[in-house]
Amino acid sequence: MSCRILAGLTLILMFVRCQAKPEFAPTPTLPPSLGPTATLFPWISERGGQTFLKSRLGKCLFRSPLPVIYPATSGKLRELAEVNGVWVGTSVAANPLLRKNEYSTAVARDFNLIVPEVGLKFEIVHPEPDRYDFCQMDTILAFAEANGMRVRGHPLVWEQQLPPWVRELSLSQEQWKALLQDHVSRLVTRYRGEIEEWDVVNELFKEEGTLKETIWYENVGPEYIELALRWAHDADPNARLFINEFATENLNSKSNALYALAQDLLARGVPLHGIGFQMHLTESNPPNPAQVADNFRRFGELGLEVQITELDVRILKPVTPENLAHQAEIYQALMEVCLSAPNCDTFVMWGVSDRNSWINYVHEEWGSPLILDEAYAPKPAYWALVETLQP
Ligand code: XIL
Repeated sequence: MSCRILAGLTLILMFVRCQAKPEFAPTPTLPPSLGPTATLFPWISERGGQTFLKSRLGKCLFRSPLPVIYPATSGKLRELAEVNGVWVGTSVAANPLLRKNEYSTAVARDFNLIVPEVGLKFEIVHPEPDRYDFCQMDTILAFAEANGMRVRGHPLVWEQQLPPWVRELSLSQEQWKALLQDHVSRLVTRYRGEIEEWDVVNELFKEEGTLKETIWYENVGPEYIELALRWAHDADPNARLFINEFATENLNSKSNALYALAQDLLARGVPLHGIGFQMHLTESNPPNPAQVADNFRRFGELGLEVQITELDVRILKPVTPENLAHQAEIYQALMEVCLSAPNCDTFVMWGVSDRNSWINYVHEEWGSPLILDEAYAPKPAYWALVETLQP
């Protein structure tokens, strides 16, 4: 009996070693000295419905190299983005990037920038007080490296998608500060030199232009914004740091408040390099392109970069060819605004195709928000962007 167990154990060990050696390539961020030790202890991690092979040291290991799709497969949109020096991006999930499939092919074919849709959210990346889980982000980064893409970091400080343990804490102000500092510094330090720009604070204003009383505002104080920017800068002095906000594309109370905040932060020497405009829009009520241009210009006059960071244009169902044509005009107008602003070169959509959009489960009566359809085929909005980028 004990002989059988011994034989069984030996076989399992041999299997683990055989699997581990040739096939589990450590991530680029895994120090070489940790490689052999880490690959001896692979196990499976499941987070947010996604499965990853992990090492004992918490590093993410991939079974085989991530798929290289670009430049062999290259769509018109990415080709023109490269020619124009424009970054056309999408948010992505990590798991489907591990293999070549319709999703990963569309990502590398049509975009030259990716941003994790959930991979860096607090509940994913920092699920327990003393545990960080970088598997999703490492996957996304490795895919970006394999396919020559830039990566945005999103978000460091947000009030949503926090794990329960954060909401249950009862701490002093100093302890809350220490917690947030640890989180910000840990993420930025880990990806120093790889993620060159970060949404440091996400969604901070109420519609009328006062600061939201978020968990961070309440417990760290209103200075949480400035502190987060300084901590991120200390962790990577070369990273470009953004404040990211929604419903600020037009000139309104919220964008005025954002402008005043940016002005104040810069005047006090706080490291801030740009403003992200999310732009979760509706086809029936699009922004005014002239106002968006004026808005971009005034932030530019402060020396700030602007980026469109989460664009989608949802259509009230039923979706018609007329709606789709109007949606295309909205995408086109925004790309034109970005191209003609000297401080805008980044145009990111929130999702790869209509099959993957968060709109499908957040606003069910709306649909078809992106530039690729449910089958990853180009929609009129895609061709409108191509036309705008045509030299
Ligand atoms: C959304 C994701 O798309 C969803 O999958 C997730 O469940 C919730 O977050 N503003 C942001 C993004 O800054 O991070 C949000 O992303 C959409 C709104």
